[in-house]
Amino acid sequence: MEFGPAPESDAPARAWLAKHAGSFKHYIGGHWSDPQSGERFESIDPSTGVSLGRVAQGSAADVDAAVKAARAAYPAWAALSPHARARHLYALARTVQKHSRFLAVLETLDNGKTIRETRDIDVPLVARHFYHHAGWAQLRDTEFPGYAPVGVVGQIIPWNFPLLMMAWKIAPALAAGNTVVLKPAEFTSLTAIAFAELAHEAGLPPGVLNIVTGDGSTGKLLVDHPGVDKIAFTGSTEVGKQIRRATAGSGKKLSLELGGKSPFIVFDDADLDSVVEGVVDAIWFNQGQVCCAGSRLLVHEGIADTLTAKLRARMEKLRVGAPLDKSMDIGAIVAPSQLERITALVKQGVDDGAQMWQPSWACPTDGYFYPPTLFTGVSPSATIAQVEIFGPVLVSMTFRTPSEAVALANNTPYGLAASVWTENINLALDIAPKIKAGVVWVNSSNLFDAAVGFGGYRESGFGREGGREGMYEYLHAPAIPLADVRVAAKTRAVAPTPAQTSLPGIDRTPKLFIGGKQSRPDAGGSRRIESPSGALIGEVAEGNRKDIRNAVEAAHAASGWSRMSGHARAQVLYFIAENLAVRAGELASRIASMTGGDGAREVDASLSRLFTYAAWTDKYDGAVHDPSIRGVALAMHEPMGVIGIVAPNESPLLGFISLVAPAIAMGNTVVAIPSERAALAATDLYSVLETSDLPDGVVNIVTGPKDVLAMTLAEHDDVNAIWYHGSAEGGAAIERASASNMKRTVVESSALDWYHARAEGPVFLREATQVKNIWIPYGE
Ligand code: NAI
Repeated sequence: MEFGPAPESDAPARAWLAKHAGSFKHYIGGHWSDPQSGERFESIDPSTGVSLGRVAQGSAADVDAAVKAARAAYPAWAALSPHARARHLYALARTVQKHSRFLAVLETLDNGKTIRETRDIDVPLVARHFYHHAGWAQLRDTEFPGYAPVGVVGQIIPWNFPLLMMAWKIAPALAAGNTVVLKPAEFTSLTAIAFAELAHEAGLPPGVLNIVTGDGSTGKLLVDHPGVDKIAFTGSTEVGKQIRRATAGSGKKLSLELGGKSPFIVFDDADLDSVVEGVVDAIWFNQGQVCCAGSRLLVHEGIADTLTAKLRARMEKLRVGAPLDKSMDIGAIVAPSQLERITALVKQGVDDGAQMWQPSWACPTDGYFYPPTLFTGVSPSATIAQVEIFGPVLVSMTFRTPSEAVALANNTPYGLAASVWTENINLALDIAPKIKAGVVWVNSSNLFDAAVGFGGYRESGFGREGGREGMYEYLHAPAIPLADVRVAAKTRAVAPTPAQTSLPGIDRTPKLFIGGKQSRPDAGGSRRIESPSGALIGEVAEGNRKDIRNAVEAAHAASGWSRMSGHARAQVLYFIAENLAVRAGELASRIASMTGGDGAREVDASLSRLFTYAAWTDKYDGAVHDPSIRGVALAMHEPMGVIGIVAPNESPLLGFISLVAPAIAMGNTVVAIPSERAALAATDLYSVLETSDLPDGVVNIVTGPKDVLAMTLAEHDDVNAIWYHGSAEGGAAIERASASNMKRTVVESSALDWYHARAEGPVFLREATQVKNIWIPYGE
């Protein structure tokens, strides 16, 4: 039986387009302004190729005006009561609902996605996001006490979910008390413009939300603008890396939601009919133009042929065509350039020898359509298995064992999402933590909810959108006070001379600490450690790039640490404290001799800090989110992996422990570069660590030229995060270099008061972990 046409009326959206007479403006400071350059570009309906109007191209002057408007609006918006901001967010949610059909149709016209999706998924989720964040606005001061908004936020979004990505960006930013300049994608600017009109009517104060349209060059102007305090970006990994480099050293807060090549893993006990529908949702939803699309089908060998046959039968029945037709499954590809990219990658797959299959029917030819496509016999290293195609193209591979499935799943630089299909809950929950991805869907795919954080591991970016996790991206934690340099200078004047301390002989020059052993530095050099008055106290080994690489390898080999229970890790931290206490007097005088400070106080504070993180190991719980489905999402705190720690010069023991302890408490392994000036405070720990049941390789210590060693860590693709305490220039270089594999960075160029209560706790634990949300739907 054939479907008849069931078109949704586009009359209200066409009337809106007509009202604008084919020419759109920027929304800046509550006014609509023409582009100062006078330039505009076409926005097309990809299902017909017909122009919908001309969109303003944002220039430097436009971006500047928008940032200034956002800055001017910021103090009053940030000063509003939480309840007042909540009312504004609530008004935005209501206005989206009241105009939902108009927005859905306009989105379909502009993007080419089907009305079924815009009407039933995109727009309801947009409203849901504003409702949820009306709640966070209301609760901000009670749930985030002491936290402050970041300021003016620049937001850049892609074209695949124009309204939804806008909501994901704007809602948390405004709820937290920031003001916003948002740049939509050049292919899909219209719904952001329509939304700004609605927000204006709903009474959002001028300047709180500004929309500047334009292409990538406009985005770049926003990224580079000195008046912006944070950049939030969703788009390709390539541009994400450019933005990481461009913002390095600027102090701008950054969150990046980038590409993916997400695995869809099917075990042999899975319900294959459900799997087929899951695949439809995973890769043919939104024409496969989804960052978390399940684009790599990994199937147990024994069921591969059966599943392929079922998939082909289902693909034969999918309908591609006019996206406003309510019975269409698949709409148009957003633009000719994207269609060309998909076509070229599919050709490459065929040329590389994989088997390509497409349904027998033909796509309409009057717009930019592409049929659902299935590749089998794909090699895991093939381009189509590695590159984000961003189209309705599924590549499939087989596995034999669960561990092979995990290895294949993780065989990509990305880490955004994964689906796991099995009727065995034990297997699903065993596999989910092993997959490097920010979201794992059990027996489901592409589920989203405002209460559940979304975001990636590895080159899929960092930061989360949605829920409590997402709110932190738009807030500053209460600052740790700075160290009082006057006190340091004074104590330095009365520092004990080396003669007054029991110095070790120079022949006891400590080596490096790698893989649980004291190992000679590769180059065989050493460096002097002096008292504040310049007297020689001792020497430490001069590590180099090779030593860092060995240390990273040892840290990787120790990954079993992450699988130990929190309780077991706590035992080790307590034991370290116990053994450190035995050496307290010796360490105190050593610290005093190197820094001129109060060594005993520093050792005491370090012992307390070890206790703090021993305490936290089994208390930094995740959450069970309550999304709008029948089921739960488990938000688990997982360790980052290998963390590079570049300890501060000040408080050489306390600063070192304040960073290493939270990292290992959460199950990370570390490569630490101690204070350059007072490295003996860390090398004295070798024997403490050796006698505390710490597994080999969990803590590795490399002394030497801090910035040279730090750069090797920052450039190393097997290091997952880097915390750098040093110079502003050093920090900027670290941030730039971190773009290679999108490591998460914390850089700090001020000398902090490590004794302060704020220098410990969940703020550090948050940096030591990443949240994985595991969705578990219930039901038969
Ligand atoms: P893109 O990353 O270039 O565009 C995303 C947004 O960034 C747009 O608003 C664009 O104007 C802006 N932009 C571009 N260059 C910029 C720069 N240097 N500085 C600041 N902003 C900039 O993505 P594009 O070219 O639209 O798509 C290319 C490929 O990227 C796709 O085929 C797909 O593989 C991937 N992609 C991934 C997305 C995701 O959500 N993971 C979203 C969009 C694209």
